[in-house]
Amino acid sequence: SSNKMWGGRFAAGPSEIMQTINASLPVDRRMWREDLAGSRAHAAMLRDAGIIGGEDATAILAGLDTIEAEFEADGPPTDLALEDIHMAVESRLAELIGPAAGRLHTARSRNDQVATDFRLWTRRACREAAGAIVSLQSVLVARAEEHAETIMPGFTHLQVAQPVTLGHHLLAYVEMLQRDVSRLFAADERAGESPLGSAALAGTGFPIDREATAHALGFERPTANSLDSVSDRDFALDYLAAAAQCSLHLSRLAEELINWASPPFGFVQLSDQWSTGSSIMPQKRNPDAAELVRGHSGRIVGLFTGLMITMKGLPLAYSKDMQDDKAPTFEAHDLLMLSLAALAGSVESATFKPARMRDVAAQGFATATDLADWLVREAGVPFREAHHITGRVVKAAEDQGCDLADLSLDTLQAIDARIDNRVYDVLSVEASVNSRISYGGTAPVRVREQVARWKEQLA
Ligand code: ARG
Repeated sequence: SSNKMWGGRFAAGPSEIMQTINASLPVDRRMWREDLAGSRAHAAMLRDAGIIGGEDATAILAGLDTIEAEFEADGPPTDLALEDIHMAVESRLAELIGPAAGRLHTARSRNDQVATDFRLWTRRACREAAGAIVSLQSVLVARAEEHAETIMPGFTHLQVAQPVTLGHHLLAYVEMLQRDVSRLFAADERAGESPLGSAALAGTGFPIDREATAHALGFERPTANSLDSVSDRDFALDYLAAAAQCSLHLSRLAEELINWASPPFGFVQLSDQWSTGSSIMPQKRNPDAAELVRGHSGRIVGLFTGLMITMKGLPLAYSKDMQDDKAPTFEAHDLLMLSLAALAGSVESATFKPARMRDVAAQGFATATDLADWLVREAGVPFREAHHITGRVVKAAEDQGCDLADLSLDTLQAIDARIDNRVYDVLSVEASVNSRISYGGTAPVRVREQVARWKEQLA
């Protein structure tokens, strides 16, 4: 038999495969709350504008309340014949209140309905993701405070470069994550226009009040062009772009934890709760959660790319291709939320190894730049020459198998007579980090200032 909602001109129903390819209910049932919210705002507006009668409106709103209670208790339906969440709600409403249900769809199309529902869902996802990012930031700031003075090697090219503090390193991620929060807030704000009332594509002849539905649903204002409104999925792409970039930051943090947890580094031990064992090699502690965060980032970027490609060739206005917008967005959001929680747990419970980090910094001649800077400052040597002298000092330490700070003054003066006793003040890794007091630098005093700023900002 033909479809109840649109089957007037059809003699036969869809083939089974047609029904399967066409149905979006398995995916969009997740937005049932948003669909009910949109329908409530629309029904109240139709009543207030005198487009439907008060009694019908009351019956519709009561029916929507019943549906909310039913879906809350049992979940929304899964029957593919219902096609999508919009039709699932409307057909249940018809069962509950009879013909008055048919008045709800006055001056509305599924095209503006789905655009509205999905925007509402995506705006909530932006705020939810931002909240989870703030939780991870709080964990990082707490660990940074604990390790404001912990010395570790800073790397470039993954070669020991200069000593930094672990607190400084962790706060670098807090900065990245803050940019993600700001992108999510911007995405939420940009999505703050209501498509409801754009109808199928051209607007409607009914005297609707789009300001009223926009405000009832928490939007700032209605969208200004009905064709754009039903064709636009920028809001989902904005969310996905922000999620992809955030996941990239999470992936880099995960990568560092994976490296640091590897015994040759030995900078950190991940807790039992956030590691897994090997079924064959008893000594293994695998950082699976961090690896999956790194892996999920690839999937999130792929989901973003996928929706970009879905949208790129579509003519105005709505095309059914656009039904493929929700699955990637929902999946990306789930993966991002899981990744944020997994990293927060991993970092919160990790045991850092300060002695090992300090040793690697010292053995890696991480204070070579400090020696060169000392020659410039104290002996008036041009930097390029100081670099050369320092290179010879590093070679001497390498030959003797010791740290720079362990070289004798005789050895140093044999390389350059301008070096004197005071140089030992800068050769230790502690002296090095303590000297990096420029704004944004790694000195513990600067790290503490940043920790204080973040604690205030995140509170
Ligand atoms: N299930 C559809 C979607 O998610 C709803 C809009 C359908 N509109 C239509 N004219 N068939 O995009």
